Amino acid sequence: LNPVKVGILGLGTVGGGTVHILQHNAEEIARRAGRGIVVTHACAKEINQTYPYSTDNLVLTEQLIDVVNNPAIEIVVELLGGTTIARDMTMQAIANGKHVVTANKALIAKHGNEIFAAAQQQGVIVAFEAAVAGGIPIIKAVREGLAANKIEWVVGIINGTSNFILSAMRDKGSEFNEVLAEAQRLGYAEKDPTFDIEGVDAAHKLTILASLAFGIPLQFDKVYLEGITKIAREDVRYADELGYRIKLLGITKRTEAGIELRVHPTFIPNRRLLANVDGVMNAVLIQSDALGQSLYYGAGAGALPTGSAIVADLVDVTRTLTTDPGNRVPHLAFQSNALVDLPILPI
Ligand code: HSE
Repeated sequence: LNPVKVGILGLGTVGGGTVHILQHNAEEIARRAGRGIVVTHACAKEINQTYPYSTDNLVLTEQLIDVVNNPAIEIVVELLGGTTIARDMTMQAIANGKHVVTANKALIAKHGNEIFAAAQQQGVIVAFEAAVAGGIPIIKAVREGLAANKIEWVVGIINGTSNFILSAMRDKGSEFNEVLAEAQRLGYAEKDPTFDIEGVDAAHKLTILASLAFGIPLQFDKVYLEGITKIAREDVRYADELGYRIKLLGITKRTEAGIELRVHPTFIPNRRLLANVDGVMNAVLIQSDALGQSLYYGAGAGALPTGSAIVADLVDVTRTLTTDPGNRVPHLAFQSNALVDLPILPI
């Protein structure tokens, strides 16, 4: 079989990590996918620069549409960020019958209902492993690993930047703004870093996890939201003295009244595993009926960890290419297409 042709929209941190992994681990990836996977086209803001990986067999363009409308490309990787152009390009790729792999949690959380409906109609897959918890295969864990279970609740440290900041405030007594600047330099933070520190990024990810865990439509506007900007070094120090760590948690729970969705800083006793997840690491703890509690831990941001999740989705989508489009199981499916009005419970 010929290799699957992939086009990438956005050659930034994650795009670079993705190209690097596909070149570096080509043999393993081809064996696991059943055929090779090659990036043939990529759209970048500025194509006349040197990249830290080979661009020899790669057509570089500054026009998004060159990738999205190219008939040879079977899978489009959307790494643009934002919810305007990214949404247009994703919808256009789907309309053109292409599968889409995305790391864009804001896009899925805000426009996923429309995107998955369009994808199902076209018989294409939209995969989003990289959108939640960076490199941790948490989407696959919930979709496949826990497929036998009724999920009761999900609790996670799902924003690497804010965890990096809280950890450095505790371990090194660093100033908030100093550590945020370091997280930006390391490529962990969002383009708009207020999304990280105000809890918005975690809320995007929680919306996706809740939808997957409970089969409900994506409802970002229902998340109770509180970030870490009001937390001072003293708060972190006093918590420590009392035997607690402060962590920004995303929490979603099935209750009799509805589904809870909330993101806020939380005191966690320091003997708990979640309390000891430090730096850019993420962790997601899930309570389900058959397995009981299970914990998923790993790097929540960065070029190679997030690239790892993108490539995992490329392998996943490649495996489905031989199946009848009508029989493909969407990566996100709702029990009801109607948006349900979920009560937000008091904390
Ligand atoms: N800004 C995000 C974070 C990147 O810090 O977790 C990964 O989604």
